[in-house]
Amino acid sequence: MLDAHGVRISRRTLLPGLIRLLASREEQSVSPAMTHVQAPHAKDRAVAIWLLVCCALVFAMVVLGGVTRLTGSGLSMVDWRPMMGILPPLTDIEWQQTFEQYRLTPEFEKVNSRMDVGDFKGIFWLEYLHRLLGRLIGVVFLVPFVLFAIKGTIQRREWPKYLLMFALGGLQGLLGWYMVKSGLVNDPHVSQYRLTAHLVAAFLIYAYMLWVALSLLYPASANNRHPWFGKTLMLTGMISLTIISGGFVAGLKAGKIYNTFPMMGDHWLPPGLMALKPLWRNLFDNATTVQLDHRLLAITTFALIIVYWIRARRADFSARSTGATNALLHTGILQVALGIATLVLSVPTVLAASHQAVAMLLFTVALMLTHSLRSS
Ligand code: HEM
Repeated sequence: MLDAHGVRISRRTLLPGLIRLLASREEQSVSPAMTHVQAPHAKDRAVAIWLLVCCALVFAMVVLGGVTRLTGSGLSMVDWRPMMGILPPLTDIEWQQTFEQYRLTPEFEKVNSRMDVGDFKGIFWLEYLHRLLGRLIGVVFLVPFVLFAIKGTIQRREWPKYLLMFALGGLQGLLGWYMVKSGLVNDPHVSQYRLTAHLVAAFLIYAYMLWVALSLLYPASANNRHPWFGKTLMLTGMISLTIISGGFVAGLKAGKIYNTFPMMGDHWLPPGLMALKPLWRNLFDNATTVQLDHRLLAITTFALIIVYWIRARRADFSARSTGATNALLHTGILQVALGIATLVLSVPTVLAASHQAVAMLLFTVALMLTHSLRSS
């Protein structure tokens, strides 16, 4: 990254740079003549840090969403009130009323009919926190954006980017409710299509914010894209495809069957892979096929990461790209180990949630690597 004078800044100097940035703001506040003088790179850094905070919150939101699903808490709130639903039930009467609403749902009738109001509180709070965090992200995004826009830190021609991020965040809330609704009908299971769409949308918003933040931190000054950019982008695409297939495994609870590795029970290709008609439905609706797909995609992706890492050692990479390549390998190893452990132990919550979190970490590292190879 280059500073305003064209001097290269390493990551080690980023933190001291941040401190200098904050200090220079204090100086500006005591020196009115300087308040309007702000180096462009300092403004960009402030915006980037804000976006990275939003990314961290989206990351937490994805993990919390996973824990909500894994603990069977996701269908405990039967309505969606974006503005009025901020407060949870506070009195015993309100709890009783909320529980009465839940008692009418198919999930209560078919799965949790022995639950009393005390047990209900246990599943309610995770879904409640998930939604509360969603609102918090909205505020943490919108308020600084408005301030940045008023102060001119973000120029008018850049506004559409940020408005798009905000709109996508709002749509994500809607999509989340659309997903929950699919589980409030006779069959109390959320649709795997909607669950995966909700997961993928979260990854997309996250990727967009992260990319914009990185572009602010590492502005491109020349058109010198690295020759490895294309293949790195394809590797990121492969990781994304594995993540999408993981969403279907989670949505169909396909991790609860064939809890052996590398074989599926006594088979490499278990029976019933093509049981559904038309055949394409097996890729999305048949738990056996969906699990096999995820295994195949994951192992192929992992093999590609290893080959990439070996070959990249002879490529002309910057220190930033080399660091990201090493991180990709290590995160890939961790992710595969977590995936196998999650499977053979029949999806314990802690491991499954970690597997989801590390999927996002792997995706992050892949994006950072891809970004480091674009024009610098
Ligand atoms: C590159 C490697 C991998 C990636 C990127 C990946 C990604 C994912 C993702 C995103 C999910 C969905 C999590 C959720 O929505 O809660 C998932 C679920 C799952 N994955 Fe993987 N995975 C990988 C490797 C593996 C491997 C090697 C196995 C085992 C052979 C595995 C087994 C599972 C299982 C059992 C689930 C379902 C867990 C649940 O129900 O929450 N994964 N994976």
